[in-house]
Amino acid sequence: MDAMVSVPEPDPAELRATRPHLGIDPVAGLTLEDVPLAAIARSFGTPAWVYGAGTMRARARAFRAAFAACGLAPDIHFAVKANDHQAVLRLFAAEGLGADVVSGGELARARAAGMAATDIVFSGVGKTVAELDRALAEGVGQINVESAEELEMLAARARAAGRPAPVVLRVNPDVDAATHAKITTGRAENKFGIALAEAETVYARAARLEGITLRGLAFHIGSQITDLAAFRAACTRIADLARALRGRGLALDTVDFGGGLGISYRGEAVVGVDAYAGAIAATLGGLGVRLKTEPGRWLVGPAGVLLAAVVLVKETPGRRFVVLDAAMNDLLRPALYEAWHAMLPVAPARGPAGPVDVVGPVCESADRFAVGRMLPPLGPGALVAILDAGAYGAVMSSTYNSRPLLPVVMIERGRFALVRARQPEEALWAGERVPEWFG
Ligand code: LLP
Repeated sequence: MDAMVSVPEPDPAELRATRPHLGIDPVAGLTLEDVPLAAIARSFGTPAWVYGAGTMRARARAFRAAFAACGLAPDIHFAVKANDHQAVLRLFAAEGLGADVVSGGELARARAAGMAATDIVFSGVGKTVAELDRALAEGVGQINVESAEELEMLAARARAAGRPAPVVLRVNPDVDAATHAKITTGRAENKFGIALAEAETVYARAARLEGITLRGLAFHIGSQITDLAAFRAACTRIADLARALRGRGLALDTVDFGGGLGISYRGEAVVGVDAYAGAIAATLGGLGVRLKTEPGRWLVGPAGVLLAAVVLVKETPGRRFVVLDAAMNDLLRPALYEAWHAMLPVAPARGPAGPVDVVGPVCESADRFAVGRMLPPLGPGALVAILDAGAYGAVMSSTYNSRPLLPVVMIERGRFALVRARQPEEALWAGERVPEWFG
């Protein structure tokens, strides 16, 4: 995340060169999959999310191909939390992907998008009894159990339902993923997974527990990981554990290696998908198990932009604020994690770049997308694309300050379609009731 502040800011040409879905039309300006973003803004207004379906498809294929080149064919379960739009889920289902879900709502979404229950993995540290019952009733393919307590809960529900639960145990390998503290999950102090030291005992218990069909192990050490050593360390620990379990006569036919592969937000070095697949092959490939993975960000992050317009440029002594119509309630990542998102003006630059703070209109000082960012002169109405917003963008939006949820536009092969309308204002309070006694 912002651990890479030392990396120099990439210039617009570099930003486009590393993002093949972006282009420049000499008249219309910035394009995404050959559609001018200005045309999207004219049709649907701003702010708006814009997704490149071709980019998502290409990334799903590249992800699969990287593993195939290492002789592996893991089942790919798209982490729905990264982008839960129905069109996105349909696209990945058509590409042969399943889903990784973490709530009843995500399970329902994935099913609504036509995903088979057997292609769904249910993760999460606090699945409720109702969610476990639902997972069993729907016939979800795999439940990732995160604690000894959850194991007993699930076994009881499975016995009551008369349906054995297909289970892998999520182990916390206690590895430093070297990512932002708020998105690391594989350290001993994190709430996720079963402690490595207890894993063998819990596994042995699960193996003989009525109601549980035990398949193997899962782990996920965090998100936006840019360090191959962290993946290698986690995989090695899990492989050692798998061998130890087998040594005790315990069966194991699945290893789910989670998600977490990072993307380059500002030109920083990241782990390439080929190197990642190579590390998985080197550490887990020899176990002779069915491999599963749960990528989110890598598949969708680069494919989306948040398209915004400048409301006004505010000058104060020593600072220039570019106030956008988009805000932290739309894209929370900069406010929550100090995340750095590249920004490109949609129109060709007129004049030299200078440092500006790019902010939203929400009444919080945290509502800023960038500080001291080098951007060319932008006047009211100028369009700005905030890049790499396809993952953990729209899904993390709120309606804070009574700002309606944004429209979503999907592009593919030069065509575009509105796939979610801007939320009508009345919808903001549609579910609210005033007590009768208020008169
Ligand atoms: N599997 C599990 C169990 C997860 O918890 C996650 C993400 C994934 C897979 C997908 O990870 P990915 O491949 O997308 O890194 N809101 C944060 C990211 C939170 C990630 C939570 N878990 C952000 O905007 O950076």
